[in-house]
Amino acid sequence: MKTYIIGNWKMNFTVGESSLYLHKLLSKVRAYRDLETVVAPSLVALQTLSLQTDRRKIKLACQNFFYKDFGSYTGEVSISQLRSLVDYAIVGHSERRYIFGETDKDIKKKVAAALRGGVTPILCIGETDSERSFGETVDVIRDQLLGGLSDVPKEDISKVLIAYEPVWAISGHGQPARLASPLDVADVLKLVRNILREAFGSKISEETPLLFGGSVRSLNAESYLSLRDCNGLLIGGASLIAPEFTDIIEIAKRVKNDRVI
Ligand code: PGA
Repeated sequence: MKTYIIGNWKMNFTVGESSLYLHKLLSKVRAYRDLETVVAPSLVALQTLSLQTDRRKIKLACQNFFYKDFGSYTGEVSISQLRSLVDYAIVGHSERRYIFGETDKDIKKKVAAALRGGVTPILCIGETDSERSFGETVDVIRDQLLGGLSDVPKEDISKVLIAYEPVWAISGHGQPARLASPLDVADVLKLVRNILREAFGSKISEETPLLFGGSVRSLNAESYLSLRDCNGLLIGGASLIAPEFTDIIEIAKRVKNDRVI
């Protein structure tokens, strides 16, 4: 199983800044055998960065897209338009769900559209603070996971990356984020494996990459990457700081014992 270190730049950096930043990362990151480094810049920077990047070292993801292929959808961009630029697509990030009102119905169509277009979806799931305090975590995770995968043929399930991102642990929303304890994360990742096993069998469950995200920093990355069920990290704030992001890649390489190509 590969390890995935994915930086979500969100709505940060101009095209010029993105290009300079990628240049800096490319000079520091090496190509590893089983470690995928991916960054998700703003949509406007994708074209430039796709020409600039060395995909053996750093691949690109989009942060969002619409599930139709073409047509009269003002302001939207489809996977058919993005597929030559990106290898991955973030789907259902909590900021899309709670700020822009994306529903599980939209999300399942996006997951299926990405796969159809040959782009690997990164399906984000996670409970809010109040859902956790009302004891609803298990139900929310099950609904978002099986809902998001419900249009995916069984043979494609393990092509989807699942990112567990508890909403209360994500930084940058006014309220201070709480750090998720590795124990909390281990419990939910295990729950995700169990739900996948019940629904699709143990082979598919074991082969589906599970990521964690929410205030990951170089200081705590190892505690999450060491978890049995954790195959990578989705990183927001710390992915905008070159030494932080490259340190996390080095930690992943060490923890997962990967070799340079
Ligand atoms: P954060 O964001 O690392 O800044 O908490 C993670 C995410 O939203 O994917």
